Amino acid sequence: MYPRKINESVFAVGAVDWDRTLFDALIPLPYGTTYNSYLVQGSEKTVLIDTVDPAKISVLKRNLNSLNIDHIDYIVSNHAEQDHSGSIPEILDLFPMAKLLTGKKGQDMLLPLLDIAPAKIQVVEDRETLSLGDKTLQFIFAPWVHWPETMFSYLVEEQLLFSCDLFGAHLASSELYASKNEHTIQEAKRYYAEIMMPYGTRVAKHLETLKDFKIDTIAPSHGPVYDQPEQILSAYHEWVAGDLKNEVVIIYVTMHGSTEELVFRLTDELVKRNISVTPLNTVTASLGDLALSLVDAKTVILGSPAYLMGAHPNLVYAAYLVNTLKPRTQNIGIIGSFGWGNKMVNQLTDMLKDLTAEYLPPVLVKGQPRQEDNDQIKALADRIQELHRT
Ligand code: FEO
Repeated sequence: MYPRKINESVFAVGAVDWDRTLFDALIPLPYGTTYNSYLVQGSEKTVLIDTVDPAKISVLKRNLNSLNIDHIDYIVSNHAEQDHSGSIPEILDLFPMAKLLTGKKGQDMLLPLLDIAPAKIQVVEDRETLSLGDKTLQFIFAPWVHWPETMFSYLVEEQLLFSCDLFGAHLASSELYASKNEHTIQEAKRYYAEIMMPYGTRVAKHLETLKDFKIDTIAPSHGPVYDQPEQILSAYHEWVAGDLKNEVVIIYVTMHGSTEELVFRLTDELVKRNISVTPLNTVTASLGDLALSLVDAKTVILGSPAYLMGAHPNLVYAAYLVNTLKPRTQNIGIIGSFGWGNKMVNQLTDMLKDLTAEYLPPVLVKGQPRQEDNDQIKALADRIQELHRT
């Protein structure tokens, strides 16, 4: 994509990666992604905010070339992860007079990650300002979104926040602005669930910090630019601290249909009680769908058949992910079937040790569920309904 003008002094010069399907060899990208890099031109100094994934360095170079940029004074690294920093060495080679600005933690991470001469780095402090002539850039440390060194850069006169990964979305689009793309908030929520949710408490603090700044535009490192930032800001407030919803997510796998029968019976009982239910079969549901479903759900149910005395490996993986993603869910239940014995309740409970949630009475059935097992399922649904009322 060619460079896009955001205002008289700021251009989006990053790359759209339409074809990428997987991030971190883990996260599916149903709509590709972007690596956003921004050029800020003051009357005296020119700054590049972050770079792009090294696979797309040719796009960044082409964009700078098409703007006739023959001099860059500073490259700001808001985040050391390689999808934003990986092209810094080549850009430093192209613009040898440029200094690389980052915080101390950023320096400590960039030096071992990239081949950069230490003398090229100029360490900045939290809230330090940099004059570009008629514009001022301010650095705002924002650790743990989602690495320890992350920071924002704020273009004071334009009230424009470069927010690094925070508020990002893995969404390749020909539209520069979020207001022009109906998928942005949903994909930002998916991104929040996959990347930011484990740091929800930190994110909440950063949202409080940002209340001190007038923000007209948010330019994140992935996905569209927010020209109406109140939309994403209020969405984030909801995701990190809003009331959990009257929703149950059932993450399950089945081998011969017994666990699935329990899942369907529980689904029916919950629906009868006006509770929203999302059954997610781990064979077909993506990691993104799983993460997304966890943001708002008040209750999570894990459903598994016994496998070699424990839970099925799919559910072991799912429990590991749930524990790692740290959703705010308040209630956890375990249901499943077994043939001759199982230890899945202890196994899965141990794996979810980082969550602070109430455990519901497990429902474990030997063999195929019978009519008489319905009492346990109904009791579980009743308990969930009771908890969802409070
Ligand atoms: Fe988009 Fe954490 O890098």
